[in-house]
This record gives sequence, structure tokens and C-alpha cells, in this order.
Amino acid sequence: MSDLYDLIVIGAGPGGYVAAIRAAQLGMKCAVVEREAKLGGTCLRIGCIPSKALLETTELFEQSRLHFAERGIVAKEVTIDLPQMMQYKEGVIKQLNVGIGGLLKKNKVEHYCGHGQFKGNGQLEVASEDKVQTLKAKNFLIATGSVSSSLPGIGPDRELIGTSTEALSWPEVPKRLVVIGAGVIGLELGTVWRRLGSEVTVLEYLPRILPGTDSQIATEAQKLFEKQGLTFRLNMKVTSVTSNGKLCTTEMDGQEPLHSDRVLVSVGRRPCTDNLGLESVEVKTDRRGFVQVNSSYQTTAAGIYAIGDVIGGAMLAHKAEEEGIACVERLATGHGHINYQNIPDVIYTSPEIASVGMTEDALKEQGTPYRSGKFTFAANGRARAAGHTDGFVKILANRNTDRVLGVHILGAHAGELIAEAAVAMEFGASSEDIARSCHAHPTLAEAIKEAALAVDQRAIHS
Ligand code: NAI
Repeated sequence: MSDLYDLIVIGAGPGGYVAAIRAAQLGMKCAVVEREAKLGGTCLRIGCIPSKALLETTELFEQSRLHFAERGIVAKEVTIDLPQMMQYKEGVIKQLNVGIGGLLKKNKVEHYCGHGQFKGNGQLEVASEDKVQTLKAKNFLIATGSVSSSLPGIGPDRELIGTSTEALSWPEVPKRLVVIGAGVIGLELGTVWRRLGSEVTVLEYLPRILPGTDSQIATEAQKLFEKQGLTFRLNMKVTSVTSNGKLCTTEMDGQEPLHSDRVLVSVGRRPCTDNLGLESVEVKTDRRGFVQVNSSYQTTAAGIYAIGDVIGGAMLAHKAEEEGIACVERLATGHGHINYQNIPDVIYTSPEIASVGMTEDALKEQGTPYRSGKFTFAANGRARAAGHTDGFVKILANRNTDRVLGVHILGAHAGELIAEAAVAMEFGASSEDIARSCHAHPTLAEAIKEAALAVDQRAIHS
């Protein structure tokens, strides 16, 4: 039996390890329990970071194939070395993994490698291959994240039919790839394999791609992705996916079956609470399996908290981080806050899609009076120079107060640009505030200033 901890965090993803570091900064005696050998959770091992390594690399490949010549760069026979590409990705993961270990050590957070399971109040059993330990704490934080979900008849076999986990490491480029679900994962990983040469068909149940994204942005993005070679089939209800070990067959309601070399199932994620022993401490979950918490992230059991994907809401690493920090700050100081209206969302396709605040669809639905200002990157000098003229910035501001309610960007580096909008909105900016802030020239960010000017119909360059 070890010492008594102030806080034990279960799960070392971005929600968990960040919460542990903040708790240690606030003077708590803290430990992290993680069952995987590598720290960093889904985000670092099999999510955000490896997918970005592949997206960045394949974008370079695409640029070299399609756009070098027009710029006067002669690069003949640029080819793909897939094992090397995967090795680069693994190297990125390793560096960041070691970095997290160093941060935990620096902050005196103890790290236990093993599967954590509650054993009654105040106790957590940690089982690894060679031993079982029981840890005691005054408080616990469940930060166990989520895992890929599937649908009846669509069970990934992890061979030819895979989830994002497998699709980040396929050993060869599938000639034909079927992607089920035109959500974030389907589009990001569909883009990776399309750039590497796959014929990619994306099947989506709904009549549109990227549900939840501003529909004007999604419509425009779909046109651009189609131009790049992705095929979309909307209103497709996939009923079964099977593989004979060589070929996959995807069946849809009322359609001819579709044959492909591989299938990526990307139809969402579910909370991960498997074998956590929640019943032993009476932590309740809702009907979809999400751990129920109150506004202080406290579960139905005293002294047990939960944050991140496992409690539902946007399944985003940065949302989990903010929740982890707010949770331990409330625990230590009584204060801690997140503005859920202001969490940016980024999809790392090309062009990128980034947004913060409300969509135009939601404003219409709510009947909120608003004005919209739009500015296209085609009219932005830096975008022209860089050859990134696709897309636009859209700013939505309250018609009466001019307060910015939502910013939506489709364009190169949208994921970086959105930070300006998030900060402005956090400080309650009006579109006039953004329009009157000096933006360096020539930068892509000038498109944000122009969109803000356009809210009042006074953009200069359109
Ligand atoms: P998602 O919820 O974004 O998209 C799933 C799609 O599958 C939806 O469009 C849905 O309508 C469709 N679908 C469901 N059942 C279907 C069926 N039977 N046939 C055809 N289509 C069907 O889920 P996704 O892409 O798997 O991502 C999971 C989570 O991970 C999301 O919450 C996402 O936000 C998060 N994530 C975020 C990233 C980022 O921030 N860049 C990157 C990757 C994942």
C-alpha cells in the first residue's frame, strides 16, 4: 500500500496529464495512472499528432506533384517512401512522449503504468503485467477518454477494415479506400490516403458532410475536396462491411455493394470506461456511457471527478485540457472556469477549416439578429503569393450590439488564424474592435480584419 495522494488521475492523455501537472503546481501530491506504455493518450499515440504528421507530410508530397512546376521548382519523380513516412511520424510521437514524461517528473507527479480499477471508495488497483498495486487518494480524476465506436454489422476486423488507429499505420497504399462517415476523422485520414494515391469514396449517412460545421463552410469545403479527388456519396446508410481477407464489401440500403481494398470506419467515438470498476464506487454513466458530472466535474461519487471525452461534449484535446485545469483549480482554490461558447474547432484538411462560437445555422434557428461579413482569400495578397487562394473568413456579429458571435474560416492555416478570433471573443470583442485592430501586411490574418470590416459593408479589398 502506497502513501495517500491528494489526487490520482486515471489516464495520461491531454486532459489527464495536464490536470496532474496543474494539480502539482497547486501543491497537491499527485499521481497519474496510465495503462499504455506511451504517455499522451489517443491524441499523441493514435490521434491528433500522428494524423498531423501524416497530413503535413502528404501535403508536401501533393505540393511537389501539383504546384512546384508553376513556381519554377523542378522536382522530377518525387515518390513516396511509406515506411520512412511512418518512421517520421513515430519519431514525432516518441519525442513528445518523452517530453510528457519529463514534465511529469519535473512537477513531481508520480507515474504508474498499469490498468486502473476502482476498488471501493478511496482505493484504486493498478494492474500491470508483473504486479498489482493498490493506491489510495483523497480525490480521483477520471480522464480515460474515448475509443472509436462502430455500428451493428460494421465491426472493424483491424486488418482490412480499420478505425483511425489502423489507418494511421497501414503498410501500403490501398488502391480503393472506402471511408464510412464524412466527419473529422473520415476527411482528415481520407485526405492523407487520397494524396498518397488511393481512390477514396466517402459514404455519409446525412445529406451533408461535417455535421455541426457551419453549412456554408461545409458546402464550399465539399466542392474543394471533390476537386481534389475525393468522392462523396451522401444519404448512404451503411448496413454492413465484410472482408474475405483480400477484398472488403460495403453494403448500403438500396444501393449496389461497394468493393474496396480497405475500409476506414469513422462514425464517431464512445466514452472509455471499460473495467474501471465504476460500479464499486457508484459513479453513474448516462445511457450513452458518458460519466455523469456536475458543473464542478464531480461525478455521482464524492471525491471522484471526471473530465474530457469520457464526460461527453466536444471530443477535443484542448477542451479536455481546459476541463482538467478548471477541475483541479476548483478543487484546490474553489475557482476555475471554462467558456464553453468559445472553444475553437479545427479540421486539418487542405484547406483547413476552423471555427469558434456559433454557426450561422444556429443563429438562424435561435432567431438571433446578426450581421455577417465575409472575405475571400483570393483577395488577400499573402494568400495569392503563397498560392492558397481557396476559401474565406466569415464573421457573424450581433446586429444590435455588434458583439462577435462566431468566426468561421475555410483556408490555409485556418487552425492558426482562429486563435485571434478566440481571443477576441473571449474579451467580448465587437466586429468593430477587430476591424480597428492593426493587422500586419501582408498576412493571411488581414482576411479576418477585412471580414470584420465587411460586417459593416466597408471591406477595402472586395
Ligand atoms: P464524427 O462524429 O465527426 O463523424 C462521424 C460521421 O459518420 C458523421 O458525419 C455521421 O453522420 C456519419 N455516420 C454515422 N453512422 C453512419 C453510417 N451508418 N453510414 C454512414 N455514415 C455514418 O466522428 P469521427 O470523424 O469518427 O471523429 C470522432 C471524434 O473525434 C469527433 O468528436 C471529432 O471531433 C474528434 N476528432 C477531432 C479532430 C480534430 O479536432 N481535428 C480530429 C479527429 C477526431
